[in-house]
Amino acid sequence: MPSQAHITGSLLSERAWVEVDFQALGHNIQQLKQHLSASTQLLAVVKADAYGHGALRLAQEVLQRGATWLAVATIPEGIELRQAGISAPILTFGATSTPEQALTIAQWQLQPTLCTAKQALAFSKVLDAPLAVHLKLDTGMSRLGAPWQQALEFVRFVHGLPNLEIASIYSHLAMADDINPTVTQQQQARFEKIIQQIQSTGIPLPMLHLANSAATLSNPGLHYDLVRVGLALYGLYPAEHFKSVINLKPVLQVRARVTQIKMIPAGTGVSYGHQYVAKQPLQLAVVGIGYADGVPRKLSNQMSVLIRRQRIPQIGAITMDQLMVDASNIPDLEEGEVVTLLGQDGSEEISADDWANRLGTISYEIVCGFKQRLPRIPINL
Ligand SMILES: Cc1ncc(COP(=O)(O)O)c(C=O)c1O
Repeated sequence: MPSQAHITGSLLSERAWVEVDFQALGHNIQQLKQHLSASTQLLAVVKADAYGHGALRLAQEVLQRGATWLAVATIPEGIELRQAGISAPILTFGATSTPEQALTIAQWQLQPTLCTAKQALAFSKVLDAPLAVHLKLDTGMSRLGAPWQQALEFVRFVHGLPNLEIASIYSHLAMADDINPTVTQQQQARFEKIIQQIQSTGIPLPMLHLANSAATLSNPGLHYDLVRVGLALYGLYPAEHFKSVINLKPVLQVRARVTQIKMIPAGTGVSYGHQYVAKQPLQLAVVGIGYADGVPRKLSNQMSVLIRRQRIPQIGAITMDQLMVDASNIPDLEEGEVVTLLGQDGSEEISADDWANRLGTISYEIVCGFKQRLPRIPINL
């Protein structure tokens, strides 16, 4: 039987879509909360359209389920959430420095990250009312942030400026997913030293935070006042060894429909370049999803899909909007049946990590790769 019992209504007309499983999201939040003490807040990282899951619905849902903060990368991402009526504090991770950006941030009550004295000065000059800001320190990631050696000077400078209220001081870890804690320990030691220095100058300590998903799951000593969790919320593990620490369920599933079925004789080439040539007659099924939807073309001839709870090999080059599979094992397959690209079908499952491992990348890149033209469909509400 076609495995589409759970797909209803207008979805029947879609050729491909992303399902966002809110029961799985709730499960992940519950599991994460068991790792947090009552004094640590949960910030949900919903940048990049909530890692491809659809930021708006995701943000509303995580706030209802216990997250108290949100983070985005860019100002437009934050504005989108505000326009939808979300009133929770929103931290923007990206660097912002122009007067226009400062005014837009203030107008939408977003909370910027400041990394340099120049940025702080630009904000202070243009604002006419106090704005909560977050100071980012580089303790070893070598990305955004004031270098740890100059951190005290930077914090002092911002503290002395009008209209800037330091809401938090934070840093980002480069290797929290590594089983070897040496680099994380070094970064934390630098962070701790700066905190002590700030305390000794009499500047009141704001909120402090350091942990991403991996740090949240590896050491409560890294939690401080708030943890910034992205990947684990979405049910993905920062590394294999976290599977023994927490049980997570993938939130995102990608499905598409069979759009045509045909028999092809032995010797027939399939798709651009005829990279695949049928060795024997086979039943070819065309599936309505391609690389413009976020299925990496590099997976051509290297991936399977699930149809009727069976693994079915993909054949030929993946094209922009469509891909082909060898569905000979399902002789009575019909057009319109549901194909699972990522997710579960019966006891079979294909994970973002399966794709990532095959491609030599990380699951973050896979889930962020699903494009806007795939509707995000909430399930298990
Ligand atoms: C500054 C910062 N904090 C937290 C996170 C969340 O990381 P993760 O998805 O590994 O939890 C990110 C994501 O890249 C980030 O850039």
